Amino acid sequence: MTPMRILVIGQSGQLARALVDSGRNIGVQIETIGRPALDLGAPDQARNTLESRLTGTNRPELVINTAAFTAVDAAEGKKAAAFQLNRDAVCLLAEVCAAADCPLIHVSTDYVFSGQPGRPWQEGDQPAPVSAYGASKLAGETALAQTWSKHIILRTAWLFSEHAPNFMTKIIERARTQSIIRVVNDQIGSPTPARDLATTLLDMARQVRDGTTPWGLYHYAGDTAMSWADFAEAVIREAGLPDCRIERIASSDFPAAAERPSWSVLDSHRTTEVFGCAAADFKAGLSRAVHHYMRLT
Ligand SMILES: NC(=O)c1ccc[n+]([C@@H]2O[C@H](COP(=O)([O-])OP(=O)(O)OC[C@H]3O[C@@H](n4cnc5c(N)ncnc54)[C@H](OP(=O)(O)O)[C@@H]3O)[C@@H](O)[C@H]2O)c1
Repeated sequence: MTPMRILVIGQSGQLARALVDSGRNIGVQIETIGRPALDLGAPDQARNTLESRLTGTNRPELVINTAAFTAVDAAEGKKAAAFQLNRDAVCLLAEVCAAADCPLIHVSTDYVFSGQPGRPWQEGDQPAPVSAYGASKLAGETALAQTWSKHIILRTAWLFSEHAPNFMTKIIERARTQSIIRVVNDQIGSPTPARDLATTLLDMARQVRDGTTPWGLYHYAGDTAMSWADFAEAVIREAGLPDCRIERIASSDFPAAAERPSWSVLDSHRTTEVFGCAAADFKAGLSRAVHHYMRLT
């Protein structure tokens, strides 16, 4: 069988880079497209670029969208820009994919939830975002679902990888020079290795090609719920930086422009049942990403 051709929207982002790494390992033909060739903030030009890419020779069999306005705090002051990228551009992409009959896998976020503590969030639970970022991502999910039936929306959470910058790499950098790092302890989520998410996305893509896909909404995240402070401690332990200590603080001690959910743990069971992809092994993923980053820096 010829290698599957996948177009990844987004180029320099950590998930786009993880997809390229994973695709190389399993022989999938991945092309990424990002700025300046594709600027989703310029809709007319973006539509033309996408239309020609999706209808030309060697066109992709499937599109994975990793592009987003991901700056959670900045989104509060730039709501229009966040909604433009996270809702309107997703709608545009869905329209172009529909016209080309090209399936679309879109990545969304745990921040669509409100964060009341309880059991892990399932796909049928009612979202209630508490930030502009979360609201704009939820609006993108709705726009996609209303525009193109051959879609998968995969919500994920707290991504980390050796591709800086992300929470893991920031903690390592600070722990190299500081003896104490203050980290919030009252937001609980599911840190997810970007590499495992990439593998799962490519596995889903393969199953789309096989024609066995139940389209719709899924969750995929790491298998261990923890606070940012727990996550930071796990990072410095794994990195072997014992001279640094994590001081646990409340969100109210660390004022930020955007509110974050206090509980955004995702339940990955449906993804496991339907696609056979188990929740990511946090411990193994952290070890791999930390040691890869330490070798690079
Ligand atoms: N990071 C997390 O913790 C997390 C958690 C939950 C969900 N997610 C979701 O996972 C997905 C991937 O996140 P990530 O961590 O890889 O984000 P990232 O590292 O911030 O990358 C964002 C991507 O968006 C692209 N982009 C931004 N503005 C663009 C524009 N105007 N035109 C075209 N492309 C643009 C960038 O492309 P270029 O720079 O290459 O142009 C980049 O590849 C996003 O949908 C995000 O909402 C992330």
